[in-house]
Amino acid sequence: MYNTIDKLFKNHDISDKELTDLITSAEYDDYLFEKADIVRKKHYGNSVYVRGLIEISNYCKNNCYYCGIRAENSLVERYRLLPDEILKCCETGYSLGFRTFVLQGGEDIYYNDDVVCSIISDIKASFSGCAVTLSLGEKSYLSYSRFFEAGADRYLLRHETADNDHYRLLHPQSMDPDNRKKCLFDLKKIGFQTGAGFMVGSPFQKTGNIISDIRFLKTLNPEMIGIGPFISHKNTPFGNYENGSVQLTLRIIALVRLMFPDALIPATTALGTMLDDGRERGIKAGANVVMPNLSPQDCRKKYEIYQNKLYSGEESAQALLKLRKKISSIGYTVSMERGDHKPENSLT
Ligand code: 5AD
Repeated sequence: MYNTIDKLFKNHDISDKELTDLITSAEYDDYLFEKADIVRKKHYGNSVYVRGLIEISNYCKNNCYYCGIRAENSLVERYRLLPDEILKCCETGYSLGFRTFVLQGGEDIYYNDDVVCSIISDIKASFSGCAVTLSLGEKSYLSYSRFFEAGADRYLLRHETADNDHYRLLHPQSMDPDNRKKCLFDLKKIGFQTGAGFMVGSPFQKTGNIISDIRFLKTLNPEMIGIGPFISHKNTPFGNYENGSVQLTLRIIALVRLMFPDALIPATTALGTMLDDGRERGIKAGANVVMPNLSPQDCRKKYEIYQNKLYSGEESAQALLKLRKKISSIGYTVSMERGDHKPENSLT
């Protein structure tokens, strides 16, 4: 198996059979993480990029079976931030040194194209040198184009699972797996730095699904890849399902780093929620992005997509110093730069 890892390290690809063998064995994790770390350092050095995450709304018209803020969860206390409040969060973030703002939210019809575009242009005009990332779900080609024209730089939309049958087990019939994939190709075509991704250990997920996810990513070639463990939320149809495994998540992060050397890969809050040092472990396994929370304090606990989601501590933007210390203690450096994607062929 060490030979397989060496081959993956060299060629950034291996066969599905070899991938399956690696995914299903914990024995080679140390070697795998070591190799993934070398690849990351070659492309991005010791830098860990930070993004200020602003959770703009927990209203959502969708009903994904795994998600705590699904429309039918009547126990959620709903909120939405108005444009001025979003600007305020950016102001706080900018003075803390953040140069990327991620506007993430449920699919909330309040934010029509005009509202989103004016928020984007206000942010870009007020905070020079910053990047704007959107994560607002599925939209039309035209809407995405308008957001791009208004100045948005990046867009995150996890594909969730590339297998259409599996997708239908995780979502109601009204959600179309092909449309989700189309959105991702649209985003790439328009010119966004595009993020896809999936949960590890989502209900009914088989090893073969993870292989399909990786193959889908190879076809899409996204700039960013978000991978976190599934964590059950009691007020959802999947409330009684088991959580995903941290170790498997770390293994997939390492494999994905080896297969996508220049990708920006976050050590997710979900990893940090499952394990105290989950995010540090994610970084050691090849992740190079963290997304501290810049949302107003009273909103953070309301944006509970999974249970016990962290909302104070190092994932809080206000605790940047603590985060810096933690990250340097494991041998990396927090970078406050925009941290754009660096394509592999741009390296000298
Ligand atoms: N556990 C882990 N991740 C989840 N997400 C949504 N619900 C959960 C959950 N219960 C992820 C989805 C979504 C992202 C914003 O959060 O992958 O795309």
